[in-house]
Amino acid sequence: MEPQRLDVSTPSRRYAITLGEGILDRLTRVLDEIVAPARRFVVSSPVVWRFHGQRFAAITRAEPILVPDGERFKQLPTVGRVYEALIRANADRASTLITFGGGVIGDLAGFAAATYLRGIPLVHVPTTLLAQVDSSIGGKVGVNHALGKNLIGAFYQPHAVVVDWTLLATLPRREFRAGLYEVVKYGMTSSAPLFDRIAKDRTAIFARDSATLAAIIGESCRIKAQVVEADEKELGLRRILNFGHTAGHALEAVTRYRRFRHGEAVAYGMLVAAELAVARGAMADRVRTALADIITSLGPLPPISDISAGQILEAMQHDKKMVAGRLHFVLPTAVGSATIVDDVTEKEMRKTLERMGLRK
Ligand SMILES: NC(=O)c1ccc[n+]([C@@H]2O[C@H](COP(=O)([O-])OP(=O)(O)OC[C@H]3O[C@@H](n4cnc5c(N)ncnc54)[C@H](O)[C@@H]3O)[C@@H](O)[C@H]2O)c1
Ligand SMILES: [Zn+2]
Repeated sequence: MEPQRLDVSTPSRRYAITLGEGILDRLTRVLDEIVAPARRFVVSSPVVWRFHGQRFAAITRAEPILVPDGERFKQLPTVGRVYEALIRANADRASTLITFGGGVIGDLAGFAAATYLRGIPLVHVPTTLLAQVDSSIGGKVGVNHALGKNLIGAFYQPHAVVVDWTLLATLPRREFRAGLYEVVKYGMTSSAPLFDRIAKDRTAIFARDSATLAAIIGESCRIKAQVVEADEKELGLRRILNFGHTAGHALEAVTRYRRFRHGEAVAYGMLVAAELAVARGAMADRVRTALADIITSLGPLPPISDISAGQILEAMQHDKKMVAGRLHFVLPTAVGSATIVDDVTEKEMRKTLERMGLRK
């Protein structure tokens, strides 16, 4: 199978996403093609490195910079550890930082690359499905603050993204599923064929069949790249990709990021948005059912019945998607299309959440 190449052209940088089975073994060639500076540092996590670090043997001789990758380590002190390792190794502007891990490593090490010496070249090699289809593309890097998620960060486009889905062979099933919900998000907001494919190819997807993964990951990356090209800084169209994220983030926050994988919370969030859309008459009920069916078919989600609608409403008040006091909310209208509204009332949201099974 030939590698696929997708170009991402934003006002701040133009770069390529290269996708292919086993493409990691050609990383050196990809780096040389973009003339990435020759001193190459890898930031990874002990888990990812134990599984796949040997594949870097031919890429760099520098010691890997290993930092833990749980969500609770996505914070400034961990970025500090990356800076320290770079300084000790005398990394300069003629150095390339390669992130090798899931979204946590990509976001935090990407932030280190964006800020170390005011920015050194950055290459993402994502190792989770979520990072391959979403977080490695588009330049959002950053960390959490004790008072909220992703509050510290920057837009810093990578110089290249290299996606090799053979790395997903070792990904725990729950993590894999969490990434699939983001693929469902792309289908619902932007591509009916992708949506249909998830339902049709579910067995092959879970078997991590190479051709099937090539198709769904490739299509997801294409959609993300297109949206980012049109709206790098999320002032308009890019907000579409927050579909399911308003209620999703609130669910993550009220359970202190412990109960849900991000994608799982987004799955509920998409159902909330669909429920609201139907109640408003903006979407046919059969579309809501189709979405619910696909989500159910991908496996069980953690419970929500002990969470109250009030807690979720409260958490939404703190969301970054509040612009000048109004919540920007992504409403689906059909499979493959969505729109953004800013007039969802508290009462309407409360009713929707209660219908979803949250406590009064
Ligand atoms: N920058 C963006 O645009 C963007 C978009 C979406 C999400 N995010 C961020 O991404 C983060 C979530 O990323 P994630 O879901 O990848 O989680 P993660 O980085 O925490 O990885 C999940 C788990 O999988 C393990 N892992 C990673 N690759 C593996 C592999 N190949 N084999 C076995 N285990 C592996 C990790 O050790 C970790 O325990 C969140 O912090 C979220 O805010 C960022
Ligand atoms: Zn997401």
